[in-house]
Amino acid sequence: MELLFFPCPLFLAVLSITGSITAKDQDWNDVIVTKVSEPVTLGCSDWPLKGSVNLNWLWKPHGRDSWSLVLSANNSKETRVGASKADMRLADPNFQRSGDFSLYFKPRASDGGRYSCWIQQGEKKLMQRITLLTILTVAVSPPPPILRNGTLRLTTEVSASEAVSEVAWFSPRGIPMRSETLPSGAVICKVPCFDQADQGNYTCQIWPRGNVSRLLFLFTYTITADVTKAAKFSNITHGTVVSTACLARSLLSVPCASVSGDYVLLYWQHPDSRQMDPVFSYDRWRQGRTVQTGSRLRLTSSHSADSGMFSFSLEPELKEGGVYICEVFLDDSVFIQGTRVSVLQVYAKSTPLALVLWCQYSERSQVKRVTWTHHNQSYSLRWSSPAPGRLSTEVPKPTRPDVAGNYTCTLELRNGKVARAMYAVTLPPTVNTSLSSPSILSSLSALGLLVPLVAVAIGVLLWKRGHPGVSLHSGEEENVYENPEDLRQTPAQSSVYMDLKPTDDDDVYKELDRYERCPC
Ligand SMILES: *[C@@H]1O[C@H](CO)[C@@H](O)[C@H](O)[C@H]1NC(C)=O
Ligand SMILES: *[C@@H]1O[C@H](CO)[C@@H](O)[C@H](O)[C@H]1NC(C)=O
Ligand SMILES: *[C@@H]1O[C@H](CO)[C@@H](O)[C@H](O)[C@H]1NC(C)=O
Ligand SMILES: *[C@@H]1O[C@H](CO)[C@@H](O)[C@H](O)[C@H]1NC(C)=O
Ligand SMILES: *[C@@H]1O[C@H](CO)[C@@H](O)[C@H](O)[C@H]1NC(C)=O
Ligand SMILES: *[C@@H]1O[C@H](CO)[C@@H](O)[C@H](O)[C@H]1NC(C)=O
Ligand SMILES: *[C@@H]1O[C@H](CO)[C@@H](O)[C@H](O)[C@H]1NC(C)=O
Repeated sequence: MELLFFPCPLFLAVLSITGSITAKDQDWNDVIVTKVSEPVTLGCSDWPLKGSVNLNWLWKPHGRDSWSLVLSANNSKETRVGASKADMRLADPNFQRSGDFSLYFKPRASDGGRYSCWIQQGEKKLMQRITLLTILTVAVSPPPPILRNGTLRLTTEVSASEAVSEVAWFSPRGIPMRSETLPSGAVICKVPCFDQADQGNYTCQIWPRGNVSRLLFLFTYTITADVTKAAKFSNITHGTVVSTACLARSLLSVPCASVSGDYVLLYWQHPDSRQMDPVFSYDRWRQGRTVQTGSRLRLTSSHSADSGMFSFSLEPELKEGGVYICEVFLDDSVFIQGTRVSVLQVYAKSTPLALVLWCQYSERSQVKRVTWTHHNQSYSLRWSSPAPGRLSTEVPKPTRPDVAGNYTCTLELRNGKVARAMYAVTLPPTVNTSLSSPSILSSLSALGLLVPLVAVAIGVLLWKRGHPGVSLHSGEEENVYENPEDLRQTPAQSSVYMDLKPTDDDDVYKELDRYERCPC
C-alpha cells in the first residue's frame, strides 16, 4: 500500500468575496483583524500637535448606518461616553503631549465595525481616519483534545468579509490546508483521521483588502490529540445492499452514499468467501489516497470525489465479484453502502470430441439460476455442472450446421436482474474437418447486460446431490439451470427447486470489522 499526499496550493483557503471593492467603494483607511478578547489598538495620531485639539472616537457597528460616540478627549481630559466598552481607553496616557490618540480595547464578538477618529480644532476638522475592525471567530470542533481517528473541523468566520481578501490555514507542519466556503460565507477546514502527528499549532492567515497598514494577520490555534481513546462514530446509516451482475471486464459502478463526505473507505469481501480486505481509501481534505496494488478499481470521478461525492468504477474479473462495502465518513457520522456483485464469464475449451462451452460466475449466494440456451429453441442442449459456479455444455465435433450458432449463458439474480454472455459457434470454412485440428472458429460476444428478465418460464432443475458429474436435462425443455445453493440446502432426493430466503443486508455489514483501520 502506498500513501500519497498532494499538497495542493490551488485549494488554499480562499474566502470568496462577492464582487471586487474598488478604491471608491472602500470607505475605510485601515483594516484591523482580531479575535474576541485579543486587545487591539486602532491607530490615530496628529503630529505635530497644533495647539489645543478635541478628539472624538465614533463607532458604526456592522450593518448600521449611524455613528455613536464612544470616547472623546481634549487637551486636559479623556471621557468615555455612550457605547464605549469597559476597558476602552486611549492607548497613550500622554496623548496630550505625544499626539497619539490611538484607541485601545479588548473587543467582544459584537464590537466589529467602523471606528472613526475625528480630530477638531475649534470648529475646524483637522483629520478623520476610519478603521474597519474585523472580528475573527474560529470554532474548533470537536473540542480538543481530538480523539484518535476523529475528524477535526476548523470553521472560520470574519465579521466583515468585505474587508478580507483571503483566509488560509496552515497545518503545524506549515502545509497549506484545503478549505471550503460554506453558503454562510464561513470557511471550513478539516483534518480527518486525527492522529498524534496532527497535533500542534494550526495557523490562520488573513489578508485584509485594500490599502492598509498591515498586510497579514496571523492567528494560532493549538490543537491537542488524545490517542489513548478512539473517536466514536455512533451515527451510522446503512443503505440497502445493491445486488448486481455483470460480464467479466465490463464496466461496473460501485455506489457509495449519496451524501457528501470527508473521506471514503472501500472494503472488498472476496466472492463466496468471508475474507474481507480494505481496497481503497480517499481523503479529500488531505488529498491522500491508498489503493491496493494491482487493483483496477478507481474513483468514478476525481472531480466529484473532491467535492465529497464518492463512487467507484471497476472492470471486474470473475474473481473480483463479491461484496463491495463503501463507507463514507462525514464529521461524526458514517454512511455505509454495500454492493453484491456476481461476475459472469463464458469461454470454450476444445477437446478431440467436442468443443466444451463453459459458463462461470461468482458470488453464488445471490444467484437464482443460470442457464445455457441455443438460439434454436428446439435444439436440445446437454449440460453439466461439475462444481458450484460452473456450467458446461458440449458441442460435438465435427460441428454440424444445426448445432452451430449462438450459445447464451443467462444468469438471473434473486432480485430479477439478468446478465447474459454469448458464445458464437461457427462452422469451419472448409468442409473437411479433422478431429485433431481446432477447426471450430468461435467468438465471444456479450449480450444485453442487466436487462429485465423477459425469458419465458423455463425448465426445472433436476440436480441430485452426490452426482455432480451427471448431466440432467428437463425433458422437452432445452433450458437448464444450476442453483448453487441447492448443493448445500436441497435434500439429496429432492428434485424440487427451493428458493433461499433473501440475503439479509445486515449480514453483509456485520462482516465489516469497522474502524479497525483508517488508512487515510
Ligand atoms: C475638556 O473636556 C471636558 C469634558 O468634556 C470639559 O469639561 C473641559 O472643559 C474640556 N476642556 C477644554 C479645555 O476644552
Ligand atoms: C504553539 O504555540 C504556543 C503559543 O501559542 C507555543 O507556546 C508553543 O510552543 C507552540 N507549539 C509548537 C509545537 O510550536
Ligand atoms: C495608501 O495609504 C497611505 C497611508 O494611508 C497613503 O499615503 C497612500 O496614498 C495610499 N495609497 C493609495 C494608492 O491609496
Ligand atoms: C445522524 O446523521 C444524520 C445525517 O448527517 C443527521 O441528520 C442526524 O441528525 C444525525 N443523528 C444524530 C443523533 O446525530
Ligand atoms: C432447430 O433444431 C431442431 C432440433 O435439433 C432441428 O430439427 C431444426 O432443423 C433446427 N432448426 C434450424 C432452423 O436450424
Ligand atoms: C448470433 O448473434 C449475433 C450477434 O448478436 C447475431 O448477429 C446473429 O444473427 C446471431 N445468430 C443467430 C443464428 O441467431
Ligand atoms: C485509527 O487509525 C489508525 C491508523 O491511522 C489505525 O491503525 C487504528 O486501528 C484506528 N483505530 C480505530 C479505533 O479505528
